[in-house]
Amino acid sequence: MKFEKRFGYLPLQKSSAGEAFVSDTDNTNWCERSGSRDRFARSSNSLRAAALWLLQAILFSLSVTVLVVSRKQHHSSAMDCVFRLSQYSPGLEALSDDYQTVRFKGSFSFPSPYKGPPTPEVDKKWNEIENMGAIKISAEEFSRLNASRHAVRVPSSLGGGYMALPEFVHQIHCVKMFWAHTYPDYYVEAYNRSLENPEEWHQHMDHCADLLRQKLMCDADMTLITYNWISNHYQPHPNFNVQHKCRNFESAKEWTFRRRIDASSLKHHYFTRPEEETVVDFKEPPFDPQADA
Ligand SMILES: *[C@@H]1O[C@H](CO)[C@@H](O)[C@H](O)[C@H]1NC(C)=O
Ligand SMILES: *[C@@H]1O[C@H](CO)[C@@H](O)[C@H](O)[C@H]1NC(C)=O
Repeated sequence: MKFEKRFGYLPLQKSSAGEAFVSDTDNTNWCERSGSRDRFARSSNSLRAAALWLLQAILFSLSVTVLVVSRKQHHSSAMDCVFRLSQYSPGLEALSDDYQTVRFKGSFSFPSPYKGPPTPEVDKKWNEIENMGAIKISAEEFSRLNASRHAVRVPSSLGGGYMALPEFVHQIHCVKMFWAHTYPDYYVEAYNRSLENPEEWHQHMDHCADLLRQKLMCDADMTLITYNWISNHYQPHPNFNVQHKCRNFESAKEWTFRRRIDASSLKHHYFTRPEEETVVDFKEPPFDPQADA
């Protein structure tokens, strides 16, 4: 076949760069060089031996240094990239820098443990990624967030610092809520609340939809969907089984769990307004991090 003739089983071409690399580390070359050096050696044997040992020690420590520095640089350059392209979070350090290649399971017919119809098992799966609880960050980490200067602090009985929540937890919560509202017969309580207070319900839904819109526009995922012909369909059909590059969600989840605040020792198992100090009250959480009221 023509294709095979052109592209099949061609011997690998030696590149000049490859050859240079080989001759550089070639053992015979080293031997020749040290052999020629022998002819100029006129000093005593012990001095010569000492000099060789010194040389060897220098070369060894040099190569160890190069190894360590190059490994460090390799690690930090990948993580540098993550930090440079992300808003600061101490959680970034927990993401392994090897991003994963994942093909999304996007076809309508594909099963997923997060798809309906809802069951206690489906709820359990959602719970594992949605209900992680608040975490604790240090004052130093907090200072790099550009967050409200009157943010809620963790009581000193629980080690101090500030209360926080990774955005992904809230984003997943929003998606779960939208999905749940398509099953009013199962999530009756939520459905009832939406009927009892439609204004508040719409506010919550609008809030979630608008935050997810901002997040999706913020990330502007340029990964491309292609199309297929589907039998008995006269228009191209989008193929949502698209390969993506993903952060390691398990790493993100583990970090969040490690940082979780254990509030079980508190009176209401949750933070309440501290009695021994005054706090700054707002009508709504402030937009301006410097706002005092
Ligand atoms: C902090 O937030 C304010 C208000 O959004 C913004 O004007 C300012 O540029 C931010 N500072 C930094 C360092 O990002
Ligand atoms: C939901 O509302 C209906 C009708 O008012 C009521 O019969 C039912 O008990 C409520 N269910 C829950 C779980 O709140």
